[in-house]
Amino acid sequence: MQSDKILNPVKNGLCGVIEVPGDKSISHRAVMFGSIASGKTIIHNFLKGEDCISTVSCFKKLGIKIEEKNNQIIIEGSGWEGLKEPSEILDVGNSGTTTRLLMGILAGRPFHSIIIGDDSIAKRPMKRVTEPLRKLGCTIDGRDGGEYTPLSIRGGEIEAISYTLPVASAQVKSAIILAGLQANGVTTIIEPMKTRDHTEKMIRQFGGTIHSEDGVIKVPGKQSLMATEVYVPGDISSAAFFMVAAAITPNSSIKLPNVGLNPTRIGILDVLKRMGACIKVEEIRTSQMEPVGTITVETSELEGIEISGDLIPALIDELPVIALLATQAKGTTIIRDAEELKVKETNRIDAIVNELKKLGADIEATEDGMIIHGKTPLHGATVDSWGDHRIGMTLAIASIITSESVVLNHSSAINVSYPSFFDDLYSLFKL
Ligand code: S3P
Repeated sequence: MQSDKILNPVKNGLCGVIEVPGDKSISHRAVMFGSIASGKTIIHNFLKGEDCISTVSCFKKLGIKIEEKNNQIIIEGSGWEGLKEPSEILDVGNSGTTTRLLMGILAGRPFHSIIIGDDSIAKRPMKRVTEPLRKLGCTIDGRDGGEYTPLSIRGGEIEAISYTLPVASAQVKSAIILAGLQANGVTTIIEPMKTRDHTEKMIRQFGGTIHSEDGVIKVPGKQSLMATEVYVPGDISSAAFFMVAAAITPNSSIKLPNVGLNPTRIGILDVLKRMGACIKVEEIRTSQMEPVGTITVETSELEGIEISGDLIPALIDELPVIALLATQAKGTTIIRDAEELKVKETNRIDAIVNELKKLGADIEATEDGMIIHGKTPLHGATVDSWGDHRIGMTLAIASIITSESVVLNHSSAINVSYPSFFDDLYSLFKL
């Protein structure tokens, strides 16, 4: 991955309107549900990032007809039976969501598949999914007893289980739900902390049944789903980069229409408000089952806060850019309970602490998060994305306020979730 980019700081502030691309989590799920449902599913505003393209490619290899027409993704599903034993290896690329949710789907299919991914995927823990799926009766193996890819899955008849999630992970929860939809009996999942619930919402949208109350989820088995039309809202995790950019850059105001505001994803709004940011959320409406609205952020005087506990799953993907935000806040910001950052696309605690330090930030890693002292002026340096899209975008946003230019190595990692990121960013630069 050779893609170095020279990034120059902004001179006169940022101003404009950005419609961020479709939500990554919802785009993955729309392809998966369209592939297991019966009939024609149409997806609008699908995220054409590398991760979601990996999901499309895996389902094509599983025999599903998926095509793009007039900017829509059209899937011809024939129910669970439409999935066929793949003759090729299923390559998930860099995508943890594809890997884990696909494992749940394959657990109930009566055939054999092999899943591989890139170097980052090969280091990400999979036993958190392998173990519950084995309890349902699926045969799975992989390196280190099923912890790492390549994974080999032989699915078939599976039986419902009751399972308490050991980690707050929507990917693990979703994998068990997807297997549970195919099992004999009612699968029960106990979720100690609320995580994103797009899977639950989408099951209902595709005509299925799922109950969720007080952290207990019940999925009746042997369900058939029906095709539908999906409108994917803008990704709040992508919008977060511009929210932070506006807040930390003098003379700036950015408007972000059509952003998904699912309550399980809006921790970034809570953080910005508590830090004292000038932020408005308006025109809130419900699009299908997902709330959507317009977010406006302006240059802000920020103060350090503590971020921990139940809030972490609602902003887990935003923590790298929140660390940057904290470098521009007066006082100390402490991030706790975020060990999960260590097993994302890269160890995001190490990555962000190392790279922001190169730019002059006062930041240190802790066992389960970071401590950041602000406000610190940032200077030019050569930094690296570590092959991680969110680290790359955080550093690109940092470069807006540095005193000299920044060289960003491995910037193409950003294509995983936001291929048009730099075009959108530069459209905000005031002349
Ligand atoms: C995702 C869930 C989160 C998140 C990831 C996408 C999803 O991971 O970090 O980017 O789509 O379910 P975990 O559920 O493992 O925390």
